[in-house]
Amino acid sequence: MDLKELDGILARYPEPESTIISILHEVQSVCHYLPEEALRQLASKTGVPVTRLYSIATFYHFFSLTPKGRHQVHVCLGTACHVKGSERVLTEIERELGAREGETTPDMRFSIGAVRCVGACSLAPVMVVDNQTYGKMTPKNAKEALKKYE
Ligand code: FES
Repeated sequence: MDLKELDGILARYPEPESTIISILHEVQSVCHYLPEEALRQLASKTGVPVTRLYSIATFYHFFSLTPKGRHQVHVCLGTACHVKGSERVLTEIERELGAREGETTPDMRFSIGAVRCVGACSLAPVMVVDNQTYGKMTPKNAKEALKKYE
């Protein structure tokens, strides 16, 4: 992330201390994770200690300190989805993309994760790609759904 991008983000937040989580969201949406250098620059420009930025980044599951793929694929392993076969969906996605849960594909296209209930149990088993929820997944249609992100 270059300084101009960070300055552009900070210009939208006149009170950075009270909006630091929103700022971190924006940094992550640009970089797909929170690079160390961006956190250091952010600390120096806002006066928020870098240790606090790291605390926030590690506390909230939606922040990542390691590079993530352009698309986030999450398979729900909550009870309703588990009962309906979400493990098989996850296994097929891992096989198709060549990365395991918690990993990012070598081409940085996808990161794969598991979640515990996204509140759409009636659609079980559920897969979420970025902000799009896919219900009634089978290993086959999960694989098909991911094709549109290629
Ligand atoms: S258990 Fe998967 S959406 Fe609720």
